[in-house]
Amino acid sequence: MAGTKTVMVTNIAANGIMLHSKLNLKHCQGGSLRHSIQEHRFGSIVKLRVRKKGKQSSATMVAINEGDVISENSTTLKLSALVTVRKSNTNNKDSEEGEGKMAGTKTVMVTNIAANGIMLHSKLNLKHCQVGSLRHSIQEHRFGSIVKLRVRKKGKQSSARMVAINEGDVISENSTTLKLSALVTVRKSNTNNKVLGSEMVNNLLTIFWPQNYTKGVFLQLVSTELDPGRMEAKLSKETVLKLSEDHKFGGDGISRYKVEFSVDSDFGTPGAVSVVNGYENEFFLESISIAQNVHFACKSWVQPNKLCPDKRFFFVNKAYLPSETPIGVKELREKETVKLRGDGKGRRVASDRIYDYDLYNDLGDGKSERPTLGGPLNPYPTRCRTGRPLTTTDSKVESRPSASELIYVPRDEELNDIKRVAIEEGKMMAILRNIMPALTEKIMGNQTLFNIDYFIKESGQSLLFNLGGAAQDFFKFDPPKVFSGGRSHFLQDDELGRQVLAEFPLSIQRLEDFPPVSKLDPSKYGSVESALKEEHIIGHIEGMSIQQALEENKLFIVDYHDFYLPFLDRINALEERKAYATTTILFLTKTGTLKPIAIQLALPTGNPNTSSKQVLTPPTDATSKWLWQLGKAHVCSNDAGVHTLLHHWLRIHACMEPLIIAAHRQLSVMHPIFKLLNPHMRYTIKTNATTRQTLINAEGTIETDHTPGRYCMQMTSAAYKDWWRFDMQGFPDDLIRRGLAVPDATQPHGIRLLIEDYPYAADGLLIWSSIKKLVRTYVNHYYENSNAVSSDNELQSWYAEFINLGHPDHRNASWWPKLANPEDLTSVLTTVIWLVSAQHAVLNFGQYPYGGYVPIRPPSMRKLIPEEEDPEYSDFVTDPQRYFLSALPSLFQASRFMAVINIGSAHSPDEEYIGDRNDLSSWLEEPEIIDAFNQFSIEMKSIEIEIKRRNADPKLRNRCGVDVLPFELLIPSSEPGATGRGVPNSVTA
Ligand SMILES: [Fe+2]
Repeated sequence: MAGTKTVMVTNIAANGIMLHSKLNLKHCQGGSLRHSIQEHRFGSIVKLRVRKKGKQSSATMVAINEGDVISENSTTLKLSALVTVRKSNTNNKDSEEGEGKMAGTKTVMVTNIAANGIMLHSKLNLKHCQVGSLRHSIQEHRFGSIVKLRVRKKGKQSSARMVAINEGDVISENSTTLKLSALVTVRKSNTNNKVLGSEMVNNLLTIFWPQNYTKGVFLQLVSTELDPGRMEAKLSKETVLKLSEDHKFGGDGISRYKVEFSVDSDFGTPGAVSVVNGYENEFFLESISIAQNVHFACKSWVQPNKLCPDKRFFFVNKAYLPSETPIGVKELREKETVKLRGDGKGRRVASDRIYDYDLYNDLGDGKSERPTLGGPLNPYPTRCRTGRPLTTTDSKVESRPSASELIYVPRDEELNDIKRVAIEEGKMMAILRNIMPALTEKIMGNQTLFNIDYFIKESGQSLLFNLGGAAQDFFKFDPPKVFSGGRSHFLQDDELGRQVLAEFPLSIQRLEDFPPVSKLDPSKYGSVESALKEEHIIGHIEGMSIQQALEENKLFIVDYHDFYLPFLDRINALEERKAYATTTILFLTKTGTLKPIAIQLALPTGNPNTSSKQVLTPPTDATSKWLWQLGKAHVCSNDAGVHTLLHHWLRIHACMEPLIIAAHRQLSVMHPIFKLLNPHMRYTIKTNATTRQTLINAEGTIETDHTPGRYCMQMTSAAYKDWWRFDMQGFPDDLIRRGLAVPDATQPHGIRLLIEDYPYAADGLLIWSSIKKLVRTYVNHYYENSNAVSSDNELQSWYAEFINLGHPDHRNASWWPKLANPEDLTSVLTTVIWLVSAQHAVLNFGQYPYGGYVPIRPPSMRKLIPEEEDPEYSDFVTDPQRYFLSALPSLFQASRFMAVINIGSAHSPDEEYIGDRNDLSSWLEEPEIIDAFNQFSIEMKSIEIEIKRRNADPKLRNRCGVDVLPFELLIPSSEPGATGRGVPNSVTA
């Protein structure tokens, strides 16, 4: 990068910046630029980081326009600018002459706001127009800045006033009234119809409610200042917005309207706007802008006034701690969160915005009862309350929604059109892809699972029915990543070892003692001793003694014994469900890969004094080869259950929902922590409602597809009771808890991994550290000291409610982290953001790409492994492959499972990925925060590059090599679809 060449910015594309190719600007941060461009279009404030002689220069804030010239030495920039000057014969000289001539009631138009100040109509003798002040504002905010006007009137200087000035605004010469133009944007949606409201209630209200508001949207500004006479906030006059029938939505789905607010000249700064919808139907209010920097980012459905009589209030888009809230909107701020809490009574309707808690008492129905989750018997986090009627048979059980009824979520939690359509299309494709397997089994009887290949694109196989090529593909699944031509139908040992470090990486632990022992109560579940003996593994640990292998951190364990054993009696009594409680020992080889060296299969005996445990070891002959394959299939089935039920559903979806409910109930939308978390809460409550409706409910997809069947959710309750702790959910803490890392201050992330090539951990630490850095900067910006944290009543209420109402069954646990200082807050927020973004991405978006090929990762098993005395043993010996296939799910079970996880693994086109934020305008007056977000965005881009580099490094055998899949789950960005990569900001699926 030596030299002094300059380069032209030749194009700024929608997806990044295109620099002249001769300029070797590295890391031009397309992500950051894309983000900025989305928000501010050309001329954005963006951050460029330039590598110079291999060293990264400091960050620079620059304005980029197409055509700008960037000096290669990165110290000087030439930026094009447009300066407009208005001709005037009187220019500044008459400002002196105007003193004392302010009488009268004429109004005057602001005709131009130039780059070097404000030019007012010459007949208005506004004195001291504060060219300096205006210039300052204009430099910062361009047109429409909040500026201070001081007006001399009859020789006397008036009081200072804050007003919003737009080109075209009319200023009354008598200085008592100002007219402010505003832009209101309304978003198109196909769901904004009466069906979502309660039509019956709507009609009743039409009869009984006095309709003060009809056929219009009524808007009123609320000042940040109090009227000293009334001791209430100053208000603008009410203005009416007439929405056109067809809205004339633009290509961006937005309809724009201009309105004019009339305020007294001493109105002060707008702090909120009230909105009353006098129309029949709800509409989605996107934003209201008065000038460029008085912005209300509403993004909310506004219900008809006759349905919801309360005025809606939207606050100016700026973060305020409770103690710093402008006096004019302080009371409103408090009232808004009270409204969102509701009174805990009655049935919620679709138009409601109430966030409240309830137990999981709606999973069963009359035919298939399920225990209520939550309470001393089955501890559980809480979920969003719907208030549906209780059943007639059990007064503690909520009735199921009808087939056509959506489970209530607060109105603004509903999906937008893009995501809704994507899900509907996914469901349609799932139905189509299941037609052929279903027909095949119907017509031809039971088919072997290996025939699933016929229904996967690129398998080289034709469907059993003779259809043309294009039609064939229409009915076929996209190939999962684990299914690439020529792969075996059987899970290889090295692939099992790689998967527990990469795509299914949350269960592995370092083995600290051999043999492992159970933590279950021996009086209930029999001996805690393992059947694993030295002779099972000694031949597979490269000549080491067991003690040596333990000391050198070479032995690892994937242990599902305690999770499954208490439920096995009941599971194995179900039709076509058979499971063991598996324990797998793995050895870390010299090449850094893991290989399974022993599998213990445990069954309960019904007698606490005995247990039934067998051990399988790597095969030595044909018989043991098939037994070993069956053993691995049972391990994978155990693993699929724990991955889905414990790590994915419980730890992320279920445990995070009450945190989001508490945030809406206790943190104002103005609160800086609410603003930080807001993109990380998107769609989660809705996703969980859908999950309760069709996935985790009685006989829902989770029960149907996984071995534990009707006991799935009870098993998550048991794990929640005995194992889940919030203080162990942070990424480094989780790794340390599992013995896979040790604290080490000399390492970049403060810990040292004991398996260096642990793709999930190595990449995850990059993202974790970036999140933590961003959060720490953010928290420290708003909270100077412990007192600021502990005295923030909204913050403390949020956290206390998350614990007490969100996790009531653990509310007295001693392990809850304190929230007493900025570092505590940083830690809690980092954990939350990590869990709902990167951690969830690993658990969710690999389901189909890496777990979608059922022959090598069956989610359920139908048979145990035959022992010599079993009648089935001779069948096994006669045709072991046939027996193996009969133990796996059927063809139709497999295709149904694939169809469901294919939908769940897909990103919708409106996904917002980590590092992308479209709400930076909240911090226009906080450049340090904008800078931190931009830096974070840059780091996500850099991490993407680093992950790709690692995936091409042949030394990293768990992610690079022949037939080795690259690890992509933590690559931040993705295209739509089941791509097996991409880290959304929130739990969106
Ligand atoms: Fe998920």
